[in-house]
Parts: sequence; C-alpha cells; structure tokens
Amino acid sequence: MAKGEIVLGCLAPHPPHVVYAENPEQNEPFSEGGWEALRWGYNMLARKLKEIEYDCIVVLTPHWQTYVGTHFLGLERFQNISVDPIFPNLFRFHHDIKVDVDLAEKMCEAASEAGIITKMMRNPDFRVDYGTIVSCHMLNPEWDKPVVTISSNRSTHYYSNEVMNEQSMALGEAVRKAIEDSGKKVVLIASHSLSHRHFVTEAPLPEDMSREHIYNHSQYVWDMKVIDMMREGKMKEVIEILPEMIEQTMAEAEGGGLTWMMSAMGMPDYPAEIYGYQSVIGTGNAIAAWDPNAETRAIVM
Ligand SMILES: [Fe+2]
Repeated sequence: MAKGEIVLGCLAPHPPHVVYAENPEQNEPFSEGGWEALRWGYNMLARKLKEIEYDCIVVLTPHWQTYVGTHFLGLERFQNISVDPIFPNLFRFHHDIKVDVDLAEKMCEAASEAGIITKMMRNPDFRVDYGTIVSCHMLNPEWDKPVVTISSNRSTHYYSNEVMNEQSMALGEAVRKAIEDSGKKVVLIASHSLSHRHFVTEAPLPEDMSREHIYNHSQYVWDMKVIDMMREGKMKEVIEILPEMIEQTMAEAEGGGLTWMMSAMGMPDYPAEIYGYQSVIGTGNAIAAWDPNAETRAIVM
C-alpha cells in the first residue's frame, strides 16, 4: 500500500454568516447575500479542491469543545440539524455527514499511543458543530467526500496557550502518522478565524454590509502581520508567536486548529496561498491554503 499523504491544508473560518449568505437548501433562514470577499475567496479555493484527488477531509473545530481528551466522529453517518447557539437566526442547517470511520479510528489510536487522552464519538443523535459544517460546506458544497471531525480539547482554558500549542503539536504528529499508515490522500482543515474580538450587537439586517468592519485597528495589524508571515512561508515562527496573538486578539487559534494542522504538515516553509480576508461581526477572517505540491502551488493574492 502506498504511503498516505496530506494533499492540502486549509485555514477555513466558519462564521455562520457565509453559509447564511449563500442560501443553500440545507439552511432554513433566507438572506440577501453579504460578505462577498470571503465567499468569493472560498469559491476559488473550492474550485482548486475540485482539481485535487483526495479521499477524505479532516477538520479540527473549536466549537466541538471537549474538556476530557480529544474526540473523533465515529459513526458512518450523522444526520441531524445543527443550530448556531449565538446566531440561531442565521444558521439552522440540516446536515447529512458521511464519516471515514476507519481513518477516524486510526487517528484516535495513533493519538492514544502518543499519550493523548482520546475517545470516539458514537452517539447517533450527536449534532455536528457549525464550525465543521461551515468550513466543509464552503470548501465542498456537494458534500461528496467523507469527513472526520476532531474536537478541540480545552487545554488553553485548563492550562495556557503554550500548553495548547504543545498538545496540538503532538496531536498533529499523531494524525500525520495515522494518515501515512492509512494510505489515503487527505485534506486538512483548521476551522477558525484570526483575530476574534467581535461586536455584541447585531445590525437589524445581519447582511447589511454598511455595518461591517474590523473590531479595532490593533486586531487588523495582528491579522496582517500573520498573513504576511504565511505568505513568506514562516509557519514555524507563526506558531511560536501564536500564544501572544491569541492573548491580544482573542484569536480562535486557541482551539488548536492551526497548530495541529501546521504540525501535521511539518511546519511549511513555503508560501501559503491567500484567498481572501474580511471582517464578520468585527472578527478577522482569512482563507489560506498550504499546497505541498510545488507544481500546483499558486500565488493567488
Ligand atoms: Fe467560531
């Protein structure tokens, strides 16, 4: 069996607003659009994904929070309705998610062997979180590939950003090993934004783009600094300063997604592809991809 590999890594933010704005048939609310810079960037990256041969998507989301260990989706199919607890007016999404249980079990086992506390999620009534759904829907609206979601262990909350970074690095290494052993081609998704300070009131019309802007300038400066470093291929350095960024911008990287993905990909030193940046309720959202194949890697923006 050929060695499995990670064929693409994506930083894919999950504001429910972008799915709301797309009006897919699975989502109940209706919108008049909005957040085009982000959605068009997603459309571009989704087109690239169509050109890549892969078996499965593995996503780490900060909205499936587990306080004891790291959990993995562990049933063939999860059919339910996922409701955003903060924005039930925007996101009531009927999901029918196919899971690559074989790969999920392999990753769970490899993580466990590395000393990480793990558990398989086998509850058929489990509602898959909106982080998984938004990122996966925007990157693959056809939902024609199986998914595995990995939960976010709350080591940031229990301990510190530094401990989160170390534990996520260990999880990334275990996941890479499991993927290589599986023989599969896998796309990784770190489902989160960058800076994450946000407004606490909503416009009467959520998609009123005259109300949308970054929460404050320091958040913008942090986001641009990190995006520049991504462009320069400095991911080891980004992960090193991540605890400070999380502290200053409330960044959702606190869930471990970016550290996990970069660790699994061996800390890329090649340029990331940047597909878009836009504020959603004041948060900073960047779409970026790391393509290990130098022949298909592109300068997008
Ligand atoms: Fe979030």
